[in-house]
Amino acid sequence: MSFKELVFSGVQPTGNLHLGNYLGAIVKFVDLQKTHDCIYCVVDLHAITVWQDPAELTKATREVTAAFIASGIDPKKHIVFNQSQVSGHAELAWIFNCVARLGWLNRMTQFKEKAGKDRENASLGLYAYPSLMAADILVYRATHVPVGEDQKQHLELARDIAQKFNNDFAATISSHGFGEAFFPQPEPLIQGPATRVMSLRDGSKKMSKSDPSDYSRINLTDDADSIAQKVRKAKTDPEPLPSEEEGLKARPEADNLVGIFAALADKSRADVLKDFGGAQFSSFKNALVDLSVTKLGPIGSEMKRLVQDHAYIDSVLTDGADRARVIADKTMNAVKDIVGFVRK
Ligand code: TRP
Repeated sequence: MSFKELVFSGVQPTGNLHLGNYLGAIVKFVDLQKTHDCIYCVVDLHAITVWQDPAELTKATREVTAAFIASGIDPKKHIVFNQSQVSGHAELAWIFNCVARLGWLNRMTQFKEKAGKDRENASLGLYAYPSLMAADILVYRATHVPVGEDQKQHLELARDIAQKFNNDFAATISSHGFGEAFFPQPEPLIQGPATRVMSLRDGSKKMSKSDPSDYSRINLTDDADSIAQKVRKAKTDPEPLPSEEEGLKARPEADNLVGIFAALADKSRADVLKDFGGAQFSSFKNALVDLSVTKLGPIGSEMKRLVQDHAYIDSVLTDGADRARVIADKTMNAVKDIVGFVRK
């Protein structure tokens, strides 16, 4: 069974967007527009699996949308919307909650990390998070999902859910004329030099919005001065840069900065080292400041302009949701028939 290629991905509206979100996800989203139909979703239902201040949630939803547009996502040619406006996500997630097994969810490392020691006090939503994520993708029967490394396990779960649904309902899937499989097996797209951007203060930790030090990350809305300061203060080691990738192995901070440079310049690490092998960090950092300011400056200022315009941003989201809903409703009608629900 072959499915039409369709790209889906989601970004949570929680806190500031930083370089890790940009290089790990948004850059790929922008690129895929050239080759695929794309649906990009601001996943507000996922956000509330941990407490969100309502006003902050609204603000962050508009900010992610502004970042998408400022980075070059075209909401007219493709679809940009927020998850809660299309009820099919939550409806399909419920059905998937009845397909997925407790044993599968119990293996999810992100739940273990996020729930921490006080697991009894985590929300039921946090536990079911991967099932909702599977629904996000499969309610559009999307085939390709650009995500960071850390989402690989959730994608595998989505594939398992799709397969079990296809098996459990094989008889009604075929009797309703959907052939052998109703849901595709969505594939993660994890590539590029900077799928994992690390903290500027500690090359072994991911760049994160929750790191207490703002010097650990470059926010998309940082101005040129703060970008320069943060890059100059970034942790390094005393050696000059190596000329081969091999030489980055036991040097996480050097590896991270070279990876960031490569991703921003759209080059490989090897090419960056051809230019900077043997250089001191001071001169490499100067070049990285220039490159970061050139690449991120215009995005940050466009984002700041766009978030002021609530009417425009909200109209992008409702228009996207209207178009997404058409696809999702079609899937949900078929799913209801397949499962045996009576409907209009
Ligand atoms: N869990 C993803 C993250 O934190 C966000 C997400 C939600 C997502 N639904 C998705 C990503 C569907 C890809 C596809 O990064």
